[in-house]
Amino acid sequence: MKILTVTGYKGGVGKSTTAIHLATYFSDKGKTVLVDGDPNRTSIAWAERGNLPFTVADERQAMKMIGDGEYIVIDTPARPHTDDLKELAKGCDLLILPTAPDVLSLEPMLETARDLGDAKYRALLTIVPPMPSREGELMQKDLIEGGVPVFKTMIRRTVGFPKAALAGVPIRDVTDHRLKDAWQDYVALGNEIMEML
Ligand SMILES: Nc1ncnc2c1ncn2[C@@H]1O[C@H](COP(=O)(O)OP(=O)(O)O)[C@@H](O)[C@H]1O
Ligand SMILES: [Mg+2]
Repeated sequence: MKILTVTGYKGGVGKSTTAIHLATYFSDKGKTVLVDGDPNRTSIAWAERGNLPFTVADERQAMKMIGDGEYIVIDTPARPHTDDLKELAKGCDLLILPTAPDVLSLEPMLETARDLGDAKYRALLTIVPPMPSREGELMQKDLIEGGVPVFKTMIRRTVGFPKAALAGVPIRDVTDHRLKDAWQDYVALGNEIMEML
């Protein structure tokens, strides 16, 4: 069993969107369960609006629902305290920290990284504005220079993600060929993670 936990100190940075799309990716590889650990129940609501290719379990029922799951993706609320992040890291194979590319997020992320020390984690740039903006690339570079391990893959900003959330499906299953590339971002991320597990 492999456990991936999606977390971070801030809300609205694409944690739930990342959890849903990684669970979609892993559901093609083996039995996957997404555990919704956020009291807002964003992931459960997503599942209830439509149709997802994996089970979404309330954290309070997770023990029973996980069963023989091969891949477990845990969605969490924002965790402002690094002590919480450290404890979360001990309970999974990889901690994934989504962050949007804005200057205000840089310093807190560097601080988080310092506190996490040698825990197994990676930062993920999400909601990255399209070219000609270079915000994503620049933030990635700043994080690397600050010693933060960062995924090579960045997740682009597109209205397709809120659309998919509204329809209760992964972006892969939204019938709009223009959204193919956005799904490929999560495929590339999944591939990167597979190599690490
Ligand atoms: N790559 C993206 N492009 C555009 N909007 C996004 C993207 N990722 C997430 N969003 C939107 O941003 C908002 C917050 O995302 P969410 O995944 O719920 O964040 P969190 O779980 O960190 O609070 C939602 O409205 C979501 O649809
Ligand atoms: Mg969330």
